[in-house]
Amino acid sequence: MDIEILPLTEKKPRIQDESQLGFGSLFTDRMFLMEYEEGRGWHSPRIAPYAPFSLDPACAVLHYAQEIFEGLKAFRRQDGEIALFRPLDNFERFNRSARRMCMPEIEPAFALKALKQLLQLEADWIPRSEGTSLYIRPTMIATDPYLGVRPSLKYLFYIILSPVGAYYKGGFSPVKIWISDEYVRSTPGGTGEAKTGGNYAASLRASMEATAKGFDQVLWLDAVERKYVEEVGSMNICFLYDGKVITSPLKGTILDGITRRSILNLIKDMGLEIEERALSVAEIIDGAESGRLKEAFGTGTAAVVSPVGEFTYRDKTVTIGDGEMGELTGKLYETLTGIQYGKVADRHGWVEKL
Ligand code: COI
Repeated sequence: MDIEILPLTEKKPRIQDESQLGFGSLFTDRMFLMEYEEGRGWHSPRIAPYAPFSLDPACAVLHYAQEIFEGLKAFRRQDGEIALFRPLDNFERFNRSARRMCMPEIEPAFALKALKQLLQLEADWIPRSEGTSLYIRPTMIATDPYLGVRPSLKYLFYIILSPVGAYYKGGFSPVKIWISDEYVRSTPGGTGEAKTGGNYAASLRASMEATAKGFDQVLWLDAVERKYVEEVGSMNICFLYDGKVITSPLKGTILDGITRRSILNLIKDMGLEIEERALSVAEIIDGAESGRLKEAFGTGTAAVVSPVGEFTYRDKTVTIGDGEMGELTGKLYETLTGIQYGKVADRHGWVEKL
């Protein structure tokens, strides 16, 4: 399929001060779009000016939340080149989410071609300062105007771009996490592994309560026993415990994070042992108090590698290490971002240049 490029009539003002970039509120001039219809497949791929959509009020996404998305980033590297980080992994995960949500798949190579074409046109939106990047949000929504509950017969796929800085307001300073045993994010057999909007909508109540109490994020426990760590709001989580790295296993209830996978690889490269197993809240508290739990950090495209300073469970708060970014966390952050920005050799072939 050839991608049509529609003319841009107006350009938005460019970023004046990159130090003011937050996360996800500023969008570039153009977006990629294409539609799907049962019997016809994907059609009309185009790059068009970024603009609101017109949607039928009855369309399926607005009623039954048939929606999926991805998050990846483009980086402006030291040598001036533009790079993506493991983009095909994102499009493959997008297809896994599509299968779970009964939506049509997209050819990953075509999605990557469309993204690269869009990035070539929007390259001057990629910020230059350290720690900034262009966040990429591929999305699919169900557009059939029908109120019966069944998979839609029509879909819209689009990619929007947003220049970003740090995801958290405090930059990369350690986050305070509230462990929720009242709310759960996902259940075995549910949609926890899919990157679908409903999972995030369901998390808002707990996030709001956590924010009101002064926390940055919620740590979700397993839905069955409410004892074991699953993941944090916008990131997977790892613990440096007794010299090993412990992280929750992939068993359908947590996101198979691409940053998680990459970080586990980097940890193996460092010769550290990894245990993918369910860690209990009791172990977090005991470990923090005894000093066996030395570091905790989240991983995610938006969050990168974020140190955790404190966990609070019911009325107990424990500090991890000295409450500052630990040595391993710092090293992983530097190595991962070093690979992304071209300062560290890409030994795993994760970087895809534009
Ligand atoms: C990402 O890290 O890209 C995510 O999707 C998290 C997001 C919901 C902000």
